[in-house]
Amino acid sequence: MPCRVPQETILRPRHRKFASLRTVSIQTLNPALSIGMLTLTMAKKLKVGIIGNGMIARHAHIPGYLALPEECEIVWACDIKEERAKEVSKEYGIAKTTTDYKDLLNDPEIDAVSVCTPNMAHMAITVDALKAGKHVLCEKPLSMNGDQSRAMCRAAKDSGKILQVALQMRFSGPGLFMRDYIANGHMGDIYYARAQALRRRGVPAWGVFIDKEQQGGGPLIDIGVHVLDFTLSMMGYPKPVSASGKAWDTLGKNPDLFNFWGDYPRDKFTVEDMAVGFIRFEDGQVVVLESSFMSNIQEEIFTTQLFGTKSGAQVKASGDNPVQIYTEIDKQLFDFAPRNIPDVKSSYNGEVAAFLDAIKNGKPSPVPGENGLTLNAIFDALYKSSETGQEEKIDVSY
Ligand SMILES: NC(=O)c1ccc[n+]([C@@H]2O[C@H](COP(=O)([O-])OP(=O)(O)OC[C@H]3O[C@@H](n4cnc5c(N)ncnc54)[C@H](O)[C@@H]3O)[C@@H](O)[C@H]2O)c1
Repeated sequence: MPCRVPQETILRPRHRKFASLRTVSIQTLNPALSIGMLTLTMAKKLKVGIIGNGMIARHAHIPGYLALPEECEIVWACDIKEERAKEVSKEYGIAKTTTDYKDLLNDPEIDAVSVCTPNMAHMAITVDALKAGKHVLCEKPLSMNGDQSRAMCRAAKDSGKILQVALQMRFSGPGLFMRDYIANGHMGDIYYARAQALRRRGVPAWGVFIDKEQQGGGPLIDIGVHVLDFTLSMMGYPKPVSASGKAWDTLGKNPDLFNFWGDYPRDKFTVEDMAVGFIRFEDGQVVVLESSFMSNIQEEIFTTQLFGTKSGAQVKASGDNPVQIYTEIDKQLFDFAPRNIPDVKSSYNGEVAAFLDAIKNGKPSPVPGENGLTLNAIFDALYKSSETGQEEKIDVSY
């Protein structure tokens, strides 16, 4: 079966020893074990609940937590489909199940939750979880639109808890390499980028990905979100000011066309099959974004091209030759590729490890809600521009 999500590899947890430790006197624990002044240092295991037990919960979040058994324990599996929660509980040895996420929010033992539901449910669950004092790792896109994401950012700020958006490409080997390469000044100023998430025949036929009411949009909000976040994170997340875009739905609605990921009801296809955008940023940078579930191209493209004043780069988060650098030294043009980028086996594991590390060590969110809001605000402008034919303003305040 073709992979439904960007190809992944496992990030070796870089933070296996967390600093947030509880020091407990052995004498307090068990007088029989008292050995004078000796103290035993115990790491507190974080207790986690998984809300929504479908594809991404099983493929990414649950394996990510299970890879760190000393740091966390999954206690609750929650899905509105009871049999799904029970199945997941049995398969992964998760003690408790429920069909109502409020049950696990009411459990004082729970420190953190993963929100793995369709986009429509992200906001209410995340806001309730933050209000209940839980840290949240919420699947991408943060929500269906800018207004929902604003409410989520406000709730995170008010609660003081971590809100992390599950955008795993940053935790890939090429992502980690580029982060350092850019931080060391080798790219110069990145003034333009081209971000592409293009599939030839890749409409997700499971879940609700073709339903605008439940998802908020199609490929733009579903896979464009990954490549745009990857691109903006390499550019230092500049502030967007306006955007112009266009979306189409002709191929997605056509019942005669083949789809790699199975058949789906064409009359229920209410999202776009392709969208493009031209996005302007506060300091003059521009990003061009292209995303499709269906388009007549040779093969899938998941690539960012960065145009910097010192170097250019072509970057993929996975696959062969993921990073190509183009530069000039002493009037000679050089094309080169790094040979030992970080060996990351799963960027999903990396995002979960970073989430736990931030909670335990009081660090800021590795992918803050504000980034999710920026992405949603850009998509709002692109969808609106497609209807009005005008360039639309972008508001990222909350
Ligand atoms: N990061 C990635 O690469 C990636 C890949 C695929 C999907 N996703 C995101 O993950 C989310 C889920 O996608 P999926 O492919 O797992 O979908 P899915 O349909 O396989 O699973 C979603 C599950 O959520 C359950 N659910 C719905 N509403 C609920 C509620 N209120 N409370 C509890 N459970 C509820 C459904 O019954 C279903 O089992 C989406 O936001 C999607 O954008 C991310």
